[in-house]
Amino acid sequence: MIAENGVAVYSMPFDEVMAQMTNNISCYTCHGADDGNGGAMVVTHQYVNEALGDNVSTIKPATLSCGQCHIEYYFTPEESETMMPYHGVDGMTPEAILAYYDDLGFADWTQESTGTRMLKAQHPEMETVMHGKHAALLSCADCHMPTETTDTGVEYLSHMLVSPLENEQLLNSCARCHGDTDMVAFVRGIQADVTARETETGNRLSAMKDALADAVASGAWSEDDLNAVRKLHREAQWFFDFCYVENSEGAHNTALANRCLDTSNAKIDEALALLGVAVETPAAGTQSATSADVVRLMRQRPATSETVEAEAEAEAGPAATGDATRMMRPRPATGETAEAGAGPAATGDATRMMRPRPATGETAEAEAEPAATGDATRMMRPRP
Ligand code: HEC
Ligand code: HEC
Ligand code: HEC
Ligand code: HEC
Repeated sequence: MIAENGVAVYSMPFDEVMAQMTNNISCYTCHGADDGNGGAMVVTHQYVNEALGDNVSTIKPATLSCGQCHIEYYFTPEESETMMPYHGVDGMTPEAILAYYDDLGFADWTQESTGTRMLKAQHPEMETVMHGKHAALLSCADCHMPTETTDTGVEYLSHMLVSPLENEQLLNSCARCHGDTDMVAFVRGIQADVTARETETGNRLSAMKDALADAVASGAWSEDDLNAVRKLHREAQWFFDFCYVENSEGAHNTALANRCLDTSNAKIDEALALLGVAVETPAAGTQSATSADVVRLMRQRPATSETVEAEAEAEAGPAATGDATRMMRPRPATGETAEAGAGPAATGDATRMMRPRPATGETAEAEAEPAATGDATRMMRPRP
């Protein structure tokens, strides 16, 4: 469709696009031909080629293929064209991406109670993996596509994308480098630490947002002083979110997850100092009732795809009709959504639903909700 009609397709109403869409994710998406092309990889999402330029050839094809979707992206304000916020692998860090968005003057939405021009991270798996310890060693497929054998003894790569912790063949493949380490315990340990830190940081971020909202409402602050805090708010949210919505919860790149949370906390501290507010750091798992509510909101998601669609339409207007990619975009912060402070629950949460997480307090609650398979299917729908 893009080839025929150009970037105008991105601005088309969702229903019109869907009516013309004949394929969603198919062999074509990753192999460039509907018969699978003998397994040869082809990048069919042109914005990936454009963003990465010469670097495309330096990335493993079985990583790049997944990176067509498992990446950070944004929509250009004029044409809603899908775009990646960097040029090359060096730019795939949260720091560089923030600088890119700042240079562009880009914001995903403006939060109502604070006036902060916010950013929303999508699902930066490729960015996280590319700067992690396995980048040069393994492709995404090496850890998520197990080798299976047909009844007639033919080996093939399973295209069911699974967690390596839940597949024996993949789990055994770790031993080549990790020896007899108990990989499940090792990874779950990292994830438990990162998840606890996310909860703590999210609570602090929310408290900072409330303090900023109070300052705005008081009318006693100059616009310049408020803007200095808003800048820190935007940055703190960005670094928190980059870790929070990355679906491996620290497994892909532990150092990066911690770096993001450290940076977010440093920005929160700076903002609180400017606001002259002393907010105690809650120990993970011992949130007050208010912050527990915040976490619940952040993790909460509508139970059916219809709800999502209805909400997207109600809150974002007709431009954002339930389009799968737009679902990953922030909704304007109004009413309850604004309370979440750290950003509306989007893609990260949807994917989160699909996988077991260490069951502690809030997460247990979130998981008790019925899995919304409708949403997952919707998210798997075609992207331009
Ligand atoms: C989400 C991306 C994706 C989709 C969609 C996809 N493939 Fe693949 N496919 C891969 C990756 C990654 C590899 C591994 C390539 C490598 O390791 O170099 C692969 C490998 C293959 C191979 C050769 C390797 C083997 O042992 O099986 C064949 C054949 C193949 N795919 C056929 C298909 C067909 C047919 C479809 C549609 C029914 C399809 N693929 C859809 C990503 C995809
Ligand atoms: C066309 C876009 C697209 C491509 C290409 C793609 N994915 Fe995904 N993937 C998604 C979406 C959307 C979800 C979340 C929906 C869901 O939870 O089922 C997802 C979910 C996943 C999950 C979680 C699945 C689960 O059941 O919990 C894994 C793991 C995954 N992808 C790995 C990969 C790997 C590895 C590749 C490359 C071989 C790849 N993906 C290519 C869009 C894509
Ligand atoms: C060294 C192995 C390894 C590599 C390489 C790797 N992953 Fe992962 N990935 C993991 C582990 C371990 C988890 C955590 C699984 C879990 O929580 O059960 C994970 C989790 C995920 C999830 C969340 C899965 C879920 O069940 O919710 C997605 C999506 C994902 N990886 C995509 C990717 C993509 C895309 C790439 C390449 C850019 C990639 N991974 C590269 C090991 C790997
Ligand atoms: C080709 C070798 C190789 C394979 C295979 C491999 N790893 Fe690793 N992995 C490494 C290296 C090297 C490190 C970095 C070790 C260090 O810094 O001490 C690492 C580190 C890790 C870390 C810590 C991540 C971080 O950012 O510090 C996790 C988690 C991990 N591996 C999971 C896995 C899982 C799960 C598998 C199997 C699905 C696997 N690895 C397979 C080489 C490998």
